Amino acid sequence: MKITISQVSKYVDQEVTIGGWLANKRSSGKIAFLQLRDGSGYIQGVVVKEDVGEEIFARAKSITQESSLYVTGIVQTDERSPFGYELQVKSVEVIHESVDYPITPKSHGTEFLMDNRHLWLRSKRQHAVMKIRNEIIRATYEFFNNEGFVKVDPPILTGSAPEGTSELFATKYFDEDAFLSQSGQLYMEATAMALGKVFSFGPTFRAEKSKTRRHLIEFWMIEPEMAFYQHEDSLKVQEEYVSYIVQSVLQNCKLELTTLGRDVEKLEQIKAPFPRITYDDALKFLHENGFEDIQWGDDFGAPHETAIAESYALPVFITHYPTSLKPFYMQPDPERDEVVLCADLIAPEGYGEIIGGSERIHDFDLLEQRIEEHKLSKDAYNWYLDLRKYGSVPHSGFGLGLERTVAWISGVEHVRETIPFPRLLNRLYP
Ligand code: 4AD
Ligand code: MG
Repeated sequence: MKITISQVSKYVDQEVTIGGWLANKRSSGKIAFLQLRDGSGYIQGVVVKEDVGEEIFARAKSITQESSLYVTGIVQTDERSPFGYELQVKSVEVIHESVDYPITPKSHGTEFLMDNRHLWLRSKRQHAVMKIRNEIIRATYEFFNNEGFVKVDPPILTGSAPEGTSELFATKYFDEDAFLSQSGQLYMEATAMALGKVFSFGPTFRAEKSKTRRHLIEFWMIEPEMAFYQHEDSLKVQEEYVSYIVQSVLQNCKLELTTLGRDVEKLEQIKAPFPRITYDDALKFLHENGFEDIQWGDDFGAPHETAIAESYALPVFITHYPTSLKPFYMQPDPERDEVVLCADLIAPEGYGEIIGGSERIHDFDLLEQRIEEHKLSKDAYNWYLDLRKYGSVPHSGFGLGLERTVAWISGVEHVRETIPFPRLLNRLYP
């Protein structure tokens, strides 16, 4: 019977064949331990010379790291193993011998590992991070489907620039100029007017010259948009959603969190509601805590966000930023139009902003005025203005950056480990 490692619990005391790779091995004169991986999990194969005979034992002992194999043996329960099972090996067939695999069990530098990203993905740590990424995506679809949202797909090639024009990837669209999408938001607003509550999940691109542990050039965003939702309604969706994905990972990725050495007690606390602080109060806090120079109207950088987040065990919403700091489409606070009805959600433990969101302007004249003030081409936004011409309603939405969220929940320092093939400043390969 050919099975995957994830299925072994159903085959205790039975003979099975597993196709996999040799992650590592240990051996003595009489016994060899083969650490096998097949993508679905890990299991130890135990080869006893006395049981298998000279020839199979010698073959098993000589298998090199990352050779591909079929291993046949009896599944046994094993309390000492973190996976609960081991394989009493009867025979081994090498499919392909791997020679001089570059990523040995010793430690390697980051640049070397990044150059070998196509192979580094096979490591236990990277495997765990990718499984957590997958669980967050799975839980995202589950959450929004349960809440009655419709998944829609905005275009990647676009003519508009929701988040400002300085970080665009330009390309030719036959004779026209086009950009790679930096956010699907404007299209999501149009689909919300058709379908009510919608969400998207797709790649976005920012030609940001930032070389930090939080910045990718290509990253994936989840962008919900809700008709008839005001700022406060949107914050409720955000805190419920983030709680849901954290609790899903805790429930379904126990082994992966252990592999990564994640402090799960910190994650267990992540339950809605989340604290809120206005930009003004955050500024006051910063002034009292060693950041005397920052002034009203300045944006918060990573050190500011980290200092604010350190006061909370939960993610914290920073709300009501100055209008001048934010994109053209955000709804001004009706009581005070120098700030907008927006929030950034800052993750705990120094992982920074994971969500940016706001209520959107739904008044035609105000939106037209803001487009002019931002010196955007009106021709490119006529269709967007149309949404304020035919049955305009208050609406809100947000974007969650997947990689920063994976970094936080996994507890990995840098976003480069949270996407299979990171596009970074100065790195397009592999
Ligand atoms: O705050 P941002 O720029 O918001 C928007 O794009 C809105 N249009 C979303 C919306 O309302 N539909 O980006 C949203 C999130 C950030 O909070 C951050 O998590 C992530 O996207 N993000 C990045 N992640 C990795 N690398 C980068 N360069 C990122 N830029 C933003
Ligand atoms: Mg933002």
